Amino acid sequence: MKRIAVLTSGGDCSGMNAAIRAVVRAGLTNGLEVVGIQKGFQGLIDRQYELMTTKSVSGKLQRGGTFLQSARCLEMMEEPGQRLAAENLKGMGVEGLIVIGGDGSHRGAAVLSQRGISVIAIPASIDNDIKFTDMSLGVDTALNNILHAVDCLKDTASSHDRTFVVETMGRNCGYLALVSGIACGAEYALIPESAYDIDKICNHLRRRYQEGRDNSIIMVAEGVATAQNIADQIKDRIGFETRIMVLGHYQRGGSPSCFDRLLAARFGVSAVESLLAKESGGMLGLSCGSIILTDLDKAVSSGRRPIDDNLLALAATLGI
Ligand code: F6P
Repeated sequence: MKRIAVLTSGGDCSGMNAAIRAVVRAGLTNGLEVVGIQKGFQGLIDRQYELMTTKSVSGKLQRGGTFLQSARCLEMMEEPGQRLAAENLKGMGVEGLIVIGGDGSHRGAAVLSQRGISVIAIPASIDNDIKFTDMSLGVDTALNNILHAVDCLKDTASSHDRTFVVETMGRNCGYLALVSGIACGAEYALIPESAYDIDKICNHLRRRYQEGRDNSIIMVAEGVATAQNIADQIKDRIGFETRIMVLGHYQRGGSPSCFDRLLAARFGVSAVESLLAKESGGMLGLSCGSIILTDLDKAVSSGRRPIDDNLLALAATLGI
C-alpha cells in the first residue's frame, strides 16, 4: 500500500481535525502518501483533494470543526455518485480510505467497501448514537460545551427565580440531554427513550419554588420537543416565568477536550494500522477502554445505539 486518503463527512464535530492529523502523521510515519479529500464524499465525487504533509496538519489539533470541511452528500446515496466516487479513488491511486463521520457517512463508506475499496470508518458525531463504540468522537467536547452553558445559565436563573428549558441536539438520541442533565444537576432530562409526564414536572417545579429554590433546569433532547414547546406547557399550567436556551450548533464547535484529542489520536493511528494490516470494511470503536474493529456492514445495519440502562438507572436514583 502506497497511498491512502482521509475525509470527514456529515455533521462536523470537535476532534475531527485531531483525527485527520493522527491519520496523516501515522501514514507518513509508515511511509505512505496521504491524500486529504475536501468536503466529504462530495469532494471525492468532484475530485477535490490535496496531498498532505505534516505542515498541512500543523496547528489543527486544538481547533474544532474540520479543516478538510464536510458535507452531507445526496449524490453518494445514488448509484452513479457511488460509482464515480469509487472510480475517482482508483484514479487517484488511493488504496485505502479513512472516513471520519457519523452513521450516514459510514453507510457511504460501506458502499465503497462493497465496491472493492479498502475502507476504515471512524465514529464521529456528537449524538453518540453509533453502535459498537462506547463513545463517538466529539461527544465529550459537546457535553463540556453544554455544561459550560448551563453553569452560566444557572447564575442568571438563580438571580430571577427562573426555570430554564435547555434544548440539546442528538436527533432521536437522548444521550446528550441525559448525561449533561446528570452532570449539571438538572431537575429533569426529557429524552426520546423515556416517557415524561408534564403535570408531574409542573407539580415538582411548584414544590421547589415553595421550598425556596431559586432556579430549575430542564434539559430536553431535540428528539422529544422544542424547548419552546416545553416552556409553553409549563407556563400554561403553572404560570411560571420560564425561559429557554436552544444550544444548537454551539455544541458541535470549540477546542476538543483532552478525552477527544486522545480518542482522535487512537482512532487515527488505529485506522492507518488497520489498513496496513489489510483489514478492510471495518468501523473502529472504543470498548471498555480498548480500540476495537467491527465489520462495517454489521455496524451500519444494526440500528442506533440504545441508551445504557445503567445511565437511566443512575439518573432515576438521582431523581432526574
Ligand atoms: O448528527 C449531528 C447533528 O448535530 C444532530 O445532533 C442534529 O440534529 C443535526 O446534526 C443538525 O444537522 P445540521 O448541521 O445539518 O443542521
